[in-house]
Amino acid sequence: MTMDLVELIKSRRSIRQFKQKEIAQDILINCVDAARTAPSAANLQPLEYILVTDNEQVNYLFSLVRWAAYINPKGNPKPGQHPTAYLIILLNKDYGKKWKFHDLGAAVENFMLAALSYGIGTCWLASVDRDPIRSYYKIPKKYLIDSVVALGYPAEEPLLETSDETVRYWQDGEDRLHVPKRSIDSILRINSFKKNKRNDK
Ligand SMILES: Cc1cc2nc3c(=O)[nH]c(=O)nc-3n(C[C@H](O)[C@H](O)[C@H](O)COP(=O)(O)O)c2cc1C
Repeated sequence: MTMDLVELIKSRRSIRQFKQKEIAQDILINCVDAARTAPSAANLQPLEYILVTDNEQVNYLFSLVRWAAYINPKGNPKPGQHPTAYLIILLNKDYGKKWKFHDLGAAVENFMLAALSYGIGTCWLASVDRDPIRSYYKIPKKYLIDSVVALGYPAEEPLLETSDETVRYWQDGEDRLHVPKRSIDSILRINSFKKNKRNDK
């Protein structure tokens, strides 16, 4: 049974514990192909990618990224549960000026949802040491190293919660991650900026 697209989108959670099962490279390439087809302002398509599946490089990248600031270090991938691949997100500064980060958000979300459709977990990482990545891969200056997506088959199942009190994700006694999202009533107004009936509490 295929999962309804909206349910799939809502079920995506950042995954930080991974099974050590290899992901077939052609699956990952197809996920990048999904990113390639994302909307792009003036269709300038400023995004490029480095897919990292080589074990040595995967281990090296692990030393350059940081995880789950609210619950650090408890939220780090445990030994034996590290990511098995990464996607490095590059912006070619020759293309795309004003709206390049909008393009980037759309493309990375496409990539992560495509991965999810294959049962692959992702965590988008902006806390990344960019200088060593630039030197290691000899990435020219005209590319901005924006971020990295960690990948692997999930070894955890974070729980989605609704909260207007806190944005801080947290771990319970069994190390299960709970992820609060603001309620629909607190973010949506219909036909007016004023709170409408639906929002009236
Ligand atoms: C632009 C961006 C940067 C992020 N950077 C990090 C990061 O450096 N480390 C990390 O563990 N999670 C990072 N995250 C994941 C967020 O912590 C996560 O999306 C948030 O807690 C909500 O959880 P959810 O993705 O399960 O909905 C990042 C997410 C985004 C969108």
